[in-house]
Amino acid sequence: MSKNIIKKTRKIYFDQHKTFFKHNELFNRFYKYAVNPDNYCLKKSFFKNAKVLDAGCGNTGYFAKAMIDLGAKHVYCLDLGNKWKSELRKGLKKKRVPISKISFISGSITKIPFKSEMMDFTACNGVLYHLPNKRASSKALKELFRVTKYGGSTFVYLGFEKPGLIEKYILPALRKAYREEKNFKDLIDSGNINLWQKNLKSLAQIFSKEDNFYPINSIKKFFNLINLETLMFFQDALQVPMQQAEKLDKKYSISILKKIGAKNIRTPKDHYFERTDIRRFLTPLHVTKKKNLISKILYGEHLKFTFDKRK
Ligand SMILES: C[S@@+](CC[C@H](N)C(=O)[O-])C[C@H]1O[C@@H](n2cnc3c(N)ncnc32)[C@H](O)[C@@H]1O
Repeated sequence: MSKNIIKKTRKIYFDQHKTFFKHNELFNRFYKYAVNPDNYCLKKSFFKNAKVLDAGCGNTGYFAKAMIDLGAKHVYCLDLGNKWKSELRKGLKKKRVPISKISFISGSITKIPFKSEMMDFTACNGVLYHLPNKRASSKALKELFRVTKYGGSTFVYLGFEKPGLIEKYILPALRKAYREEKNFKDLIDSGNINLWQKNLKSLAQIFSKEDNFYPINSIKKFFNLINLETLMFFQDALQVPMQQAEKLDKKYSISILKKIGAKNIRTPKDHYFERTDIRRFLTPLHVTKKKNLISKILYGEHLKFTFDKRK
């Protein structure tokens, strides 16, 4: 069962991640996040000549480029299988990343194929909650910490601590629809933004005939905000098997981190993600959730940690 899930997750992400190198705005949006040391509660000087592990890298490439741009000496990209390697290499070359500073390694974060204490910085972004169960996630946390040097740091993004209404009710309903409604599934899987645009344009025509309150150009402009980024969001939210029913919550993950000897466990602040699509209208809700009741209810709280390894 879990082998199938892993295989499926890998394949789905391989296809989805190809979009990152095709769509500059998408790449840059994630790059901007990754290149800011504050997002790991670290200083820029920490990265100078650092050896970095990108655990569960996929073929998005923004993190590896960000690390090199922050001054890292070498980035080790690790993911399952081999197919992603040539795709990532090609994409990074296009982004002018010196390929001699990048290694492409096959392996699992639950059994990292490296000696202990090799990395100054070990990062694992959006991977742990794709593992089949809590045990595998705890094992992975131990592994990430094992390969980190004394004096080094580890960053993990674990998904949601407290899911909001969107994560808890709206996305599961859409996931159910994706599984059960063939036309909807085909539209999402096609990855074909032209098909979306063609249909939306025809809707705009029909609507403007019925109601002249909005000029047709305004409707078209609005529909243009449903773009490749929107499609990518739906693919990410709906296609991947969300296998981890028992998630690592804050209390449990901190107990594991303390057990393995993690020091100075801290939570980076939420980042303001610029958006180019229709979801831009939702950004004010998204970024105010620490202070605002409505956004807290809708979006919940993320779970991410940076922690250090010290003698
Ligand atoms: C959401 S993507 C994140 C990719 C990348 N870290 C990023 O931030 O763009 C999840 C990635 O985790 C990888 N993954 C899932 N289970 C893994 C495992 N056991 N070991 C290594 N990688 C794994 C998948 O293949 C996929 O590329």
